[in-house]
Amino acid sequence: MRRKIVAGNWKMNNDLSETEALLNDLIAQMPSTHASVMVAPTFVNLFQAFTVLKGHDIEVIAQNMHQEENGAYTGEISAKMLKSVGVNTVILGHSERRAYFGETDELLVAKVNTALANDLEIVFCFGEELEDRTSGNHFSLVESQLRNALFHLDVADWKGIVLAYEPVWAIGTGETASPEQAQEMHAFIRKTIADKFGSEVGDEVSILYGGSVKPANAAEIFAKEDVDGGLIGGAALKAADFIAIINAI
Ligand code: G3P
Repeated sequence: MRRKIVAGNWKMNNDLSETEALLNDLIAQMPSTHASVMVAPTFVNLFQAFTVLKGHDIEVIAQNMHQEENGAYTGEISAKMLKSVGVNTVILGHSERRAYFGETDELLVAKVNTALANDLEIVFCFGEELEDRTSGNHFSLVESQLRNALFHLDVADWKGIVLAYEPVWAIGTGETASPEQAQEMHAFIRKTIADKFGSEVGDEVSILYGGSVKPANAAEIFAKEDVDGGLIGGAALKAADFIAIINAI
């Protein structure tokens, strides 16, 4: 049985008091669920998030990390620093990192390797731009993102990988992929992984959908065979919406 996951990517939102308030609201409304629930606050609020969530079944994850173990990289955060505050999972390859901070497939290979070397589970993000889809290149683009950043891995590495398909044109736009579009791409992703690493890895890897998931559309998307949950942005910043999405899986 594949792991079901609902993860909230808070991006650059919530100061310390807002973080505490949102987490306390989530604690107060949290349903019992078979899904793994994760939240990704900003770096400065990670430790406080662990403090607030102590004893509660909500995992605190990081939004990024540097590929080097340490050194003269002003403003950066290492895997070891994340582990030291209790982080066990890190988001890598988010389209906003790729677009605004120039993260390439080659850089992501280094980040993936460093995360795995530090026993960090990875939520690996990828997805096409609108022009890739309108020109019919979305499958080849997604396949190249997977191949270029993950195909060097061993089968054993895949126990620490969660995939998050996030079509860029759906992120923050309200233009959610249809359940059929999500299923079509997730099935393609699963087959691509199975063809390279074997059916066991392909069958077991959790593939999340991200891109304008809302309470109104979550259940239909999550019901698709190859969708194993969601990576949620805007809706994760509202406790009632995030709880509604958890209830939809
Ligand atoms: O990482 C999740 C995020 O990119 C999706 O954002 O606001 O479209 O749910 P949003």
